[in-house]
Formats: sequence, C-alpha cells, structure tokens
Amino acid sequence: MSEDSWAVAVDVQEATNPSTQVSLKVTNVSKSHIKHGLTNLLIVQKTENGDSKREAEKVDLAEQSLLNKLIRRSLVRNRNQVEVLQRDPTSPLYSVKTFEELRLKPELLKGVYNLGFNRPSRIQENALPMMLAQPPQNLIAQSQSGTGKTAAFSLAMLSHVNPDNKWTQCLCIAPTYELALQIGQVIEQMGALCPDVKLAYGIRGNRLERGVKLQEQIVIGTPGTVLDWCTKYKLIDPKKITMFVLDEADVMIATQGHRDQSIRIHRQLTKDCQMLLFSATFEDSVWRFAEQVVPDPNIIRLKREEETLDTIKQFYVLCREKEDKFTALCNLYGSLTIAQAMIFCHTRKMAAWLTANLTKEGHQVALLSGEMTVEQRAAVIDRFRNGKEKVLVTTNVCSRGIDVEQVSLVVNFDLPVDMDGNADNETYLHRIGRTGRFGRRGFAVNMVDSKHSMDVINQIEMHFNRRITKLDTSNLEEMENLIS
Ligand SMILES: Nc1ncnc2c1ncn2[C@@H]1O[C@H](COP(=O)(O)OP(=O)(O)OP(=O)(O)O)[C@@H](O)[C@H]1O
Ligand SMILES: [Mg+2]
Repeated sequence: MSEDSWAVAVDVQEATNPSTQVSLKVTNVSKSHIKHGLTNLLIVQKTENGDSKREAEKVDLAEQSLLNKLIRRSLVRNRNQVEVLQRDPTSPLYSVKTFEELRLKPELLKGVYNLGFNRPSRIQENALPMMLAQPPQNLIAQSQSGTGKTAAFSLAMLSHVNPDNKWTQCLCIAPTYELALQIGQVIEQMGALCPDVKLAYGIRGNRLERGVKLQEQIVIGTPGTVLDWCTKYKLIDPKKITMFVLDEADVMIATQGHRDQSIRIHRQLTKDCQMLLFSATFEDSVWRFAEQVVPDPNIIRLKREEETLDTIKQFYVLCREKEDKFTALCNLYGSLTIAQAMIFCHTRKMAAWLTANLTKEGHQVALLSGEMTVEQRAAVIDRFRNGKEKVLVTTNVCSRGIDVEQVSLVVNFDLPVDMDGNADNETYLHRIGRTGRFGRRGFAVNMVDSKHSMDVINQIEMHFNRRITKLDTSNLEEMENLIS
C-alpha cells in the first residue's frame, strides 16, 4: 500500500434501511479518494461472535447506490407530476386555458392530443395568441428549458401557412443539425393530420436541384444551408417568407458564425415578415441586440431567479484531476444508466478520450461530437433517443434543445467556460436542461477538479442565485436529506 493510502474500517447505519447495521471496510484507497468519497467499498458483515466475515461481494460506492435509489424514486414519482404542476401557479407549466381555448384548427388540436398533450404550458398559452394575432406581431420569448417552446412555434407555423400556396412561407432556423431534425419531427407529428402542409429540411447533406423553387410551405434548417438555399441555390424566395422563427435565438445572434448567416438571411426578408425569437436564455447584451433587430416586438421575459428549474437538483463532486474525475464517473456508471445520461466535455478531444477510456473499462457509451459526419450524428442521436445507448458523451453541440425525456442525469465532466475561462452561465443552464423535461425531475452533477473550477461553480451559483450542493459521500444521511 502506498504512503498516501489508508486502510480504514467504519461502522455506518445504512441510510435508507435503518434496521440493517453493516460495517464498511475501505481498502487500499488514497487519502484523496476518502476525502472525495470516490472509493469502492467492501461490505464486511459482523458475525455473531464478533468476527468480521468479508462477503466477497463488491458493492457500488455510496454515491452510486444513493443516486440510483433517488433516480428510481423520482422516475416513479413523475407519473402524476405534470398534472400537478400544470395546476400550480408557480410552475412554468401552469396554464389557465385549454388547447381548445387557444383556437387551434381542429386538425391541429387533434395533432396536439395525439402527441399526448393535455394542457398547454405557460409559454404555449401566452405565446400562441400573440403569434396568431392579426395583423401579425413580432415576438421575443424566453421560457425555461423543457417547457414546450418547440410546440409553441411549430403550432404557430402550422396555423400560419396556406396549404394551397405551393411555396415556402415559414422559415425556421436552429443552431445544430440534430436540433433542426428534432424540430422537423415535432412539426411532422403535430401536422400529421394536415396532409397538404409539407416540410423540407435545410440541413447539411440534403442536396436539391439548383434553381427549382421548393413547394414545401415550411423549411426548417441550420443557418448555413438555409442561407445557401435562399441565395446560391435559389430554392426559396425570401420575399415570400411571411414567418421567420429563430430557435435558440440568443446563440443565433450572439455567436459569430451563426450571427452573420442569420443576419444575411434576415436582410433578404421583407419588412412585414413576422419574426419569432425563442430561447431559455437571453444575456442582457443579446436582449438589447434582439430588440434592435426585431421591430416593435411583444416580449415574454423571465426574471433571473425564474430561469432555473426547481425540478433539477444540482450537485458538485470534488475530484483531483482528470483521472480522478474518470474514476468518479466509472463509479457513477450504474446511476448513469438507470434512465439515461448525458456527459458534457469541453473539447472533442476530451470527449473522445473519455469515450475511449469508458469503453476500455467495459462500459457502453455513445459519442457525439461536431467532427462526425451528419449520417453518423443522426444515427447516434437516434439510437440514444430510442434508448439503445444509455449514456451519451458529447460536447456543447448537444447542449441546446435536444429533447430526450428519459434523460435523468446530466454530468458536466468539464464545466462550461467561455474563452477567458469564466463561467458560461447560459451554456450551463442549457446543458443541465437536457434533464428535467416538462416537469420531470432531473439531476445535474458537476465535476470540480481545481480551485479554478470551484470558482466557476461559485460564479454559476451567484449568477442564478441557486445553491449547487456538494455531494459528499462520507455522510450518507446528509446526502439523502439533500437529494430527496
Ligand atoms: N403541453 C404539453 N403537454 C405535455 N408535454 C408537452 C407539452 N408541450 C411540450 N411537451 C413536451 O415537453 C418536452 C419539452 O419540449 P421542448 O423540447 O419544446 O422544450 P423547450 O422549451 O424547447 O426546451 P429547450 O429550452 O431545452 O429547447 C417535449 O418532450 C414535448 O413533447
Ligand atoms: Mg427548444
């Protein structure tokens, strides 16, 4: 045993089952492992004569078993939660109106019910009347992650188009290929009973004949391809677009590449084209810019303290360095797979390293990062959505909009930081928002491996005025109280 390893034996009361007294023997672990609770534990059961009889069984570490239990419990609890939340005035899902009262066309009303939606969420209830008003009104709308913004603007587009006109009337752009595909799928499902309304995907890899105008009334895509379709390939006449939707609008107008393309598309539209901007986050500077670009908008804006969801519990785990974080993650593997998990890394290189090492340890994980071909990306997200892979390692490419309802755990293997190393609060909010969809409960675990990353956690806490709790596995009882 190395100098900085200890052997300890401790008596603990099993947190969730007070009747079973067990003693836990921790063998051959480093001091840092003990400090951070990153240990594998061996159960040592006391026999009647007081001797310790080691059971050969190796059990999961405390962190893992407790998280497992809690995730399972919260999955069970979820069943009636949406209905309860939709009656709670403090919830973002609260509504006073029904879909009927929102005056949707009968075929769209059926489409909504076919998707299993019973009542609108707050954003759907508030935004839909504004988006469908005559004369058309512009809208900049903010609503928490997973509260149904997609359905809100999809219903607006489906209501808006005239199916008899065989040209593109609505344009919707989103920052990533996966998100554009996902939005298109929602529109297709919701509009299943509107057979005359057609949709085209303006995404990489979808090559169409130059100069032949599209007949599809709705185009959903990413900014680069959509710009090409409007300008280079002339598949869309921008002057005939009467509704322009930007999903994840803050990133579309704040990050350089997207902004240039979005602005170039926007410039070709007529002044009367209705503009609808949606996101869960709008930094103050982005908000000011959006108000300049969008004439006379209606505004739905959250207060800072409303941006985070109570249903997502946030934690951090102290680790020493990359390898330590890796050990912690391996220990958490059981929890990751209970429902599904997404693990975020800062770079493609780190995501590839992590995937390779988890695979080497025998864990089954999928990787999605920006350099993969679009076919590979589509296949990976499809398999993850269908639960074929339970754990997805990814970069910020999947931080926004991706909606996989079974995701109960998000791990920030690397914390989200900007170019200067400061907390990227918006990305943090979007990443943890991949769990806790539409009232479900979720867990977010942040790996902290340096003083700098602890500072980042503190900055995020201050920004949202929310506590991120230390997951300290040395005190099971306290952990149980914190998490439940
Ligand atoms: N009225 C509703 N009733 C029940 N479920 C709904 C309703 N509206 C939306 N949902 C479901 O809620 C989930 C989240 O919706 P959506 O992806 O639109 O969230 P979002 O607000 O766009 O979140 P994000 O900010 O992360 O992009 C989806 O699975 C969707 O099917
Ligand atoms: Mg969305």
